Amino acid sequence: MRALDAIIFPNPSKFDVKCFGLCFGSILLFVVGVSISTLKDERRMSRTLVTDQDHPSALPIHRDGAIAGSGPTNKARDRLDEFSVIGVLPSPKTEMQFSTKCNMTIDIQSRVLSLKTEAGVLLVKEGGMFEENGVLIGDVPPRALICESADTGAQVGGAALFTVTSGASYTFKGWTGFINKYCWAKHHRVHLYLWLGEVDRSFLENKTEDALPCSNHEPVSNHYFRPLGMRAVLEEKKPSWILNLDLQDAWFPAQHFLSNHLPRFLREDVGDLVNGKVHGQSQVFMNGAVIAFKNTAWAKYFLLQWFKNRCGRKDQLSLWHSLFTEWKKEIPSLEWDVKKLLKYDTAMLYVPKVAERYLGWKNGFNSEELHLPHVTIMPNVARSPNVAFRWSEDGQNEPFICHIRLDKANEQERKKCDHRMDLCAESYMCSC
Ligand SMILES: *[C@@H]1O[C@H](CO)[C@@H](O)[C@H](O)[C@H]1NC(C)=O
Ligand SMILES: *[C@@H]1O[C@H](CO)[C@@H](O)[C@H](O)[C@H]1NC(C)=O
Repeated sequence: MRALDAIIFPNPSKFDVKCFGLCFGSILLFVVGVSISTLKDERRMSRTLVTDQDHPSALPIHRDGAIAGSGPTNKARDRLDEFSVIGVLPSPKTEMQFSTKCNMTIDIQSRVLSLKTEAGVLLVKEGGMFEENGVLIGDVPPRALICESADTGAQVGGAALFTVTSGASYTFKGWTGFINKYCWAKHHRVHLYLWLGEVDRSFLENKTEDALPCSNHEPVSNHYFRPLGMRAVLEEKKPSWILNLDLQDAWFPAQHFLSNHLPRFLREDVGDLVNGKVHGQSQVFMNGAVIAFKNTAWAKYFLLQWFKNRCGRKDQLSLWHSLFTEWKKEIPSLEWDVKKLLKYDTAMLYVPKVAERYLGWKNGFNSEELHLPHVTIMPNVARSPNVAFRWSEDGQNEPFICHIRLDKANEQERKKCDHRMDLCAESYMCSC
């Protein structure tokens, strides 16, 4: 944790000045929190260890995300110690690699994003990024930005959508996917955050010594902005949940567009992380194209693990390996061959086998939610009038969210979720 934070916040002098106030405040809060929650915790602990089934985030967490460490010396206690580190950290100094101080308005007609940043206004247009006076500054902003859509009408504390683009050209490659999300967010008054830009190569490649082993030597890709950015939004903007959706490959299809089904999936009783089963004939255990995190200390901790353990181009590899590592703490019988998790290609087929054997995960089509420690995987079969999260194996019933690889989707996937027909099937889906 500390090592990673040192990378994200490499400017010690700035850190110290702000830390003086913030750390002091956090420690004070922490101490107050410990005493307030001791009683409650003891009651909870004495009911024996809460299982993830009846209390998915079984950690006493304060409203501000700090965790109170108290209670018996056992596994739960170890977990408290581990997470309490995050609980008392000052809010992150993310300004070194990216800034969350950016408000965005979107002009669909003229295809322009207008970004209000601390350094002034930036315009994202098809030719690149421009200063307000028309000067072209290139395809990416000088420092990566996380911009909030300023006019979706969202309430503070509600759920948030999150999506990532590296720069202007990729934004317009995925433009209809982006506008589909924007109009959905506006229709349902949900927050929308866009990560825009790149970070230093050296920052991505400099892993800390405690990262999980990895022998994928291709460069770490910008897919890893997802955990980094989502964590920052949870920490600083405090939405109740954050849902990452791929910019161009994930969208809200026509059938359910006018309904906000998020509360159906992002519930209190589903833990800290929600994923959806993909098409039953695809051997993928979990992936980050459609993935949601509740605003809890565990979620923020896990997002850092996911980033810390980054390995190669695909962020799934670290997602799986990091999850196995966390689950092992609660499911001691869980075993895997680490050699098979060093590279994406071997892990892809191996991980579902481990999940089938130890986690009760089933390949194919499922109509039941799978509840694992901290994590719920939503089924890919939901009979009408219910709705499936991200894949629906029920006749004409579309899922709530579609995700297909535009370049690789097979015919079966296209039958259900065809971006060529679906992203802007109704005018209100891409005009708002
Ligand atoms: C963005 O909007 C919020 C709310 O209106 C405001 O407090 C904040 O200062 C704005 N940020 C920037 C960089 O303009
Ligand atoms: C990454 O590590 C190299 C070599 O240790 C160092 O020169 C560089 O400053 C580091 N970069 C960051 C962003 O920490």
